[in-house]
Amino acid sequence: MERKGISYTFAVPKSVQGFGVFVYKLMGFKEQIDLSRLPEHIAIIMDGNGRWAKNQGKFRGVGHESGVLSVKDIMEGCVEIGVKHLTLYAFSTENWNRPIEEVNFLMELLISTINQETETLTKNNIKLNAIGNIASLPQRCIDDLNSAMQKTENNTSCTLTLALSYSAKWEITDAARKLAQQVKDGLISVNQINEEAFAAQLTTTNIPDPELMIRTSGEHRISNFLLWQMAYTELYFTDTLWPDFRSEDLYEAIVDYQKRERRFGKISEQLN
Ligand code: FPP
Repeated sequence: MERKGISYTFAVPKSVQGFGVFVYKLMGFKEQIDLSRLPEHIAIIMDGNGRWAKNQGKFRGVGHESGVLSVKDIMEGCVEIGVKHLTLYAFSTENWNRPIEEVNFLMELLISTINQETETLTKNNIKLNAIGNIASLPQRCIDDLNSAMQKTENNTSCTLTLALSYSAKWEITDAARKLAQQVKDGLISVNQINEEAFAAQLTTTNIPDPELMIRTSGEHRISNFLLWQMAYTELYFTDTLWPDFRSEDLYEAIVDYQKRERRFGKISEQLN
């Protein structure tokens, strides 16, 4: 005999429904994340180190040092839930225009952090990657970066990409120059230049485009970061200053991202 589905309707007392909402609110953001719909790639503009230090009457460098603690926490937070790519805007092309003392401080901090954290990256199975005009960095920085990237190249849990001496306009111009050279050398024809060919010349060629970009410190700008790659990225802005930003803030951003409908130019009805 064919069994027909029977649906039951239970009257749930209002007090119990209220308790459910209460429990949901008690849950941390991490527990609210749907792990089957995680963004594969999260990009972050880490902003607010200077203001954080100033608020405490401290030298800007203290803000950058505290920012390193956030980097570690966010990195671990990504590994914990299974985010495969994290890209951090650590030093922009425009940052070279800061006072020389701050530029030197940031370069030294970068070198010491890379050297101190390579072992932790290995332990957590994290691969280190760098994008940007790496050749413009101090030689010691280039050498230590290359060594750390080599040591972690076979790691698979997550790829941490540092954008260093990076600007999207620099990257796009560089890609255009490389394609022009290939045409000039007769390697490709003008008609072969399409979106795929262009993307293949970008520094992010082996990384998927970010689904989510977070900027801290209340600034609502993209600041020359991943302009090509963020064509359809969901943007999330928070007032929290970078040195205060922790995994729970990251998870809050992911929960917010998961509530959004990503239509990619289609209409809602086409998505289901
Ligand atoms: C922006 O804050 C932050 C930077 C320009 C540098 C970010 C660097 C770190 C977090 C430390 C080093 C990072 C790694 C990956 C080792 P800001 O100085 O512009 O702050 P403000 O807008 O309040 O002045």
